[in-house]
Amino acid sequence: MASLGGDFTRDPYPVYAWLRAQGPVHHVRLPEGTVVWLVLGYDEVRAALADTRLSKEWRHASPAQRVQTVTSGVSMLRANAPRHTRLRALVTRAFTARRVSSLAPRIQQVTTDLLEAMRAAPEGRADLVEALSFPLPMTVICELLGVPFLERDAFRAWSDLLVVGAATPRTRDALADMTRYLAGLVETKRARPGDDLLSDLIALGEEDGDRLSEQELLGMAQVLLIAGYETTANLISNGVLALLTYPGQLAALRADPSLIDAAVEEMLRYEGPLEVATFRFTVDPVEIAGTRIPGGGEIVLPVISDAGRDPARFDRPGDFDITRDARGHVAFGHGSHFCLGASLARQEVRTAVRALLETFPTLELDAHPAALAWRPGTMPRGPRSLPVRWH
Ligand code: HEM
Repeated sequence: MASLGGDFTRDPYPVYAWLRAQGPVHHVRLPEGTVVWLVLGYDEVRAALADTRLSKEWRHASPAQRVQTVTSGVSMLRANAPRHTRLRALVTRAFTARRVSSLAPRIQQVTTDLLEAMRAAPEGRADLVEALSFPLPMTVICELLGVPFLERDAFRAWSDLLVVGAATPRTRDALADMTRYLAGLVETKRARPGDDLLSDLIALGEEDGDRLSEQELLGMAQVLLIAGYETTANLISNGVLALLTYPGQLAALRADPSLIDAAVEEMLRYEGPLEVATFRFTVDPVEIAGTRIPGGGEIVLPVISDAGRDPARFDRPGDFDITRDARGHVAFGHGSHFCLGASLARQEVRTAVRALLETFPTLELDAHPAALAWRPGTMPRGPRSLPVRWH
């Protein structure tokens, strides 16, 4: 069994490429201690993401795994068909394309306000993570769900612990606090519904008799809040970092802003915010890409980031090139659990990057890229801070 560590957090791609060169499936211990079966390579990752022989339900995790990791309610991401189908259908009726596109002016406004505040920073320097990457998606997802008075700092601290998921006393406390907070919120929305997604979810369930249980509503609110901002926030940071370290690409985008859609796809492929997918569990023994994996709750972990760097699928995969066709990347997953918020995320990142470049024509990095500290763990992937300057 190989062990991963060292510079892995900062630059995991060479390690994955080295493993992939030896085969697509590897039994490894992750830096945080969990033992998993990594799946590498574009075709293999895509297949594993949609493999219905693997379970997303935590009751299928091995007992050792269940005590090691905190579980948090019942959510789409932790359900198989038919429960997954039912939960996803309900949320899709509330999370409509109309609702997402109606957010466009608000996303623009929040972005403009944040960038104005950033421009007022002393000495033309700021940390982009604090100034834009985190507050934009946090504001958007809170407004979408109807969470006006969310204690954002507390929420961010809970979420930071919960995405990693290790079962420490702090994580358990964070989960309890967040669940209590969300339960209160659901209670408020039941009594006084607003024009928001959470109120719609409650109403939809009540209308057609397919009422979401309290656990399901809490799980839904939690997965939307966490999935809805941690990922998008880190994509803004990773994408801007890529642009600032590839001056030719930055110049190309400044010269032709219509490249923005392709640039966002390339950001997702090159340095998406989810290095790996969420856990899948074996039920019966399965063969994946020629390797037999025992049944009984072994963890299978598709390495999304390696799929984007597989030279068999993408030419010169280590180059950030906004003129390539990066579509087909699996940064939003694949199959029935494909990201529900992909169009919202794309809209936010497009708006953020475009407005950032317009507002700061001389924007540059204010640190050497190798000196940046990265968030620990594999989920989500992004720098802790991104110092930038302008004149
Ligand atoms: C750049 C931003 C984002 C990325 C890269 C991303 C990526 C992903 C990926 C890879 C999955 C599938 C995980 C798996 O199969 O293991 C997923 C699922 C999901 N995402 Fe996103 N996501 C992003 C933004 C969002 C936003 C903004 C929302 C909500 C507003 C959201 C909500 C969800 C939900 C609810 C699921 C579960 C879907 C299901 O299980 O059916 N995501 N996302």
